[in-house]
Amino acid sequence: MASSTGITKRTVVVRTRAALRDALAAAPRPLGVVPTMGWLHAGHRSLMQRSRAADATTVVTIFVNPRQFGDPRDLEQYPRNEARDVAICEEEGVDLVFAPSVEEVYPLGFDTSIRVGAIAEPLEGTARPGHFDGVATVVAVLFNLVGAEHAYFGQKDAQQVLVVRQMARDLAIRTEVIACPTVREGDGLALSSRNVHLAPEERAAAPVLHRALTAARDAWAAGERSGDALRSRMREVLAGEPLANPDYVSVADLATLRELDRIDGPALLSLAVRLGSTRLIDNEPLP
Ligand code: PAJ
Repeated sequence: MASSTGITKRTVVVRTRAALRDALAAAPRPLGVVPTMGWLHAGHRSLMQRSRAADATTVVTIFVNPRQFGDPRDLEQYPRNEARDVAICEEEGVDLVFAPSVEEVYPLGFDTSIRVGAIAEPLEGTARPGHFDGVATVVAVLFNLVGAEHAYFGQKDAQQVLVVRQMARDLAIRTEVIACPTVREGDGLALSSRNVHLAPEERAAAPVLHRALTAARDAWAAGERSGDALRSRMREVLAGEPLANPDYVSVADLATLRELDRIDGPALLSLAVRLGSTRLIDNEPLP
């Protein structure tokens, strides 16, 4: 944090629940938390900046959560570089980084799982069974440990925002969940830690996700209201990219994520696409 003396305050890194509690005891309020799995990029930075603008203290959590990975290989291959992540937090003026071990988050004997209902079922919930149980469980633990007034999440993971919000509301956790816009590369590709796995030709093909969403949004702006027509439009654009292997395309109600026959209110265009062995997701809210 830049102070009036021009001296940069260092980001404090803590690894245990006890050290976190001590570090937060005298922290100025309100408190903002940005939960992450590390390998930080400009998307994560935008969340830190939102907190820095609104909160007196900003906490970033860095924890690659084993419970939200279905495939052990996916977990193992998840990119990690804590030193670089902490340097980024420092640049962004983050006050505190909580980077716990797996045992610190899930101590011996931990035996609770949080399952959010209908909102966690379609889309990513269907494609990645158990994924949102893992997300809801770890975010509940993190929310309780940090006790922040505000938590910042990316709209890039639109369903995650809805799942976490439902969980916090139902469990009477007083942290407000704030959704922030998706940060993109110049060619439209949404920033993601997983982009690092793309081979050069896959990276070149990856903007097709955003092109498909934009084509459907344009059709909607021109008056198209049929869910099927908009889903077909997205599939058409994806079919033009031989490396792209669509997992799903969706036109759903923005609040419930139920697929829509006709759009007559707020909606979410979303898709999941495989490029080689990397699975990317993206979405576009309407209006
Ligand atoms: P992670 O993928 O590290 O993302 C951390 C936060 O950054 C999430 O809220 C995500 O939506 C946001 N984010 C990622 N890419 C973004 C982009 N291009 N623009 C804006 N925000 C972006 O999401 C997780 O970690 C985990 O599931 C977590 C919530 C930490 C629970 O383990």
